[in-house]
Amino acid sequence: MSTMQERLFEIAVNSVISNAINIGNRLNLFKTLATFKTPILPKVLAEASGCKERYIREWCNCLACGKILEVTEDEKFYIAPENIAALTSDDYPIISHGMMITLLEPFEDLLTCFKKDGPHGLDYSKFGKFQDFMGNLSKSLHEKHLFTDFIDSLGDGIREKLETGIKVLDVGCGNGFHSSLLAERYPKSKFTGLDIGEDAITSAKSRKRTDGRDFENLDFVQCNASFMPENWTETFDLVLIFDACHDQMRPDLCIQEIHRCLKPTGLFAMIEMLGTSNIYEDREMLGLPATLIYGASLFHCLPVGSNSPDALCYGAMWGKRRAVELIKSCGFGKVDTVDTPYFPLNVLYLSRKN
Ligand SMILES: C[S@@+](CC[C@H](N)C(=O)[O-])C[C@H]1O[C@@H](n2cnc3c(N)ncnc32)[C@H](O)[C@@H]1O
Repeated sequence: MSTMQERLFEIAVNSVISNAINIGNRLNLFKTLATFKTPILPKVLAEASGCKERYIREWCNCLACGKILEVTEDEKFYIAPENIAALTSDDYPIISHGMMITLLEPFEDLLTCFKKDGPHGLDYSKFGKFQDFMGNLSKSLHEKHLFTDFIDSLGDGIREKLETGIKVLDVGCGNGFHSSLLAERYPKSKFTGLDIGEDAITSAKSRKRTDGRDFENLDFVQCNASFMPENWTETFDLVLIFDACHDQMRPDLCIQEIHRCLKPTGLFAMIEMLGTSNIYEDREMLGLPATLIYGASLFHCLPVGSNSPDALCYGAMWGKRRAVELIKSCGFGKVDTVDTPYFPLNVLYLSRKN
């Protein structure tokens, strides 16, 4: 086999391992297996996880060959102690294994989008499990640093303003993960989450505070960010976007609307994917992980952001140069780019009207 053939085969094997890891994560099999102090037979894991023995045995066999699980000569399985933390966490290295199965749901439709005479793109509704996956991914990537590093990066006394009480808009809020966390932490501020997706807003509206009570300072609105309500002019002190600009069909109209709805002294803070706007530089800077973002873009962000004749078709890796140009062209006088090493593969744009 040539080196490339070896590599191709290795990638195919890794893809199988990745999907089996996702099964383990979705069915809590790693967490259940980790509760046993000695190697166990598949039937014990099956019993403890409420699954069928035969399926569990094949899952164990697959991941033992993939060197994720350990196996003994008498066909018992366990997780090596040094791997338990990684395999039982809810962190992004394990959550990411759910990405491709989520994004591949409309695979055949995606192929038709490639064709010259095919559709412009795909509707969000084609990705039936996207909001659940995205909410979990955002939690795994952002939760630990939202109140600390992220709020610090906003500067401008924003922490104190949030504590005193300001109006905040979260554009493309998805299932409301960020706005609900912030609303609970800052009860004197008023938060509005906006998203075009009916499923996103339905899921967001079902959120409760951690004590089970309804939120009094959090609303969700189903709306296209290109056309926000007319009575929102100069309403918000802070407008946030978390990974939700590049996959809009008209991010230019969205940012023009943000400019209109922001108070004259307000701050527009946008978390976006880290990119340079040049593929050569992205590959140099990010290495293989760049594949993950370009891949998410190929299978999801580009098709949903291209789904009309007038779409700008940016894709996830539109990058700093294009982002700064766009924000400035929408009327913002000042745009700063801030590194966010605490949010892997992200960057923060801070924009003000003057
Ligand atoms: C990648 S998800 C990010 C969701 C959420 N902010 C997070 O980080 O978990 C992008 C979100 O933007 C929303 N979106 C896309 N186009 C939109 C538009 N034109 N107006 C409002 N929301 C839009 C999608 O429905 C989706 O929930």
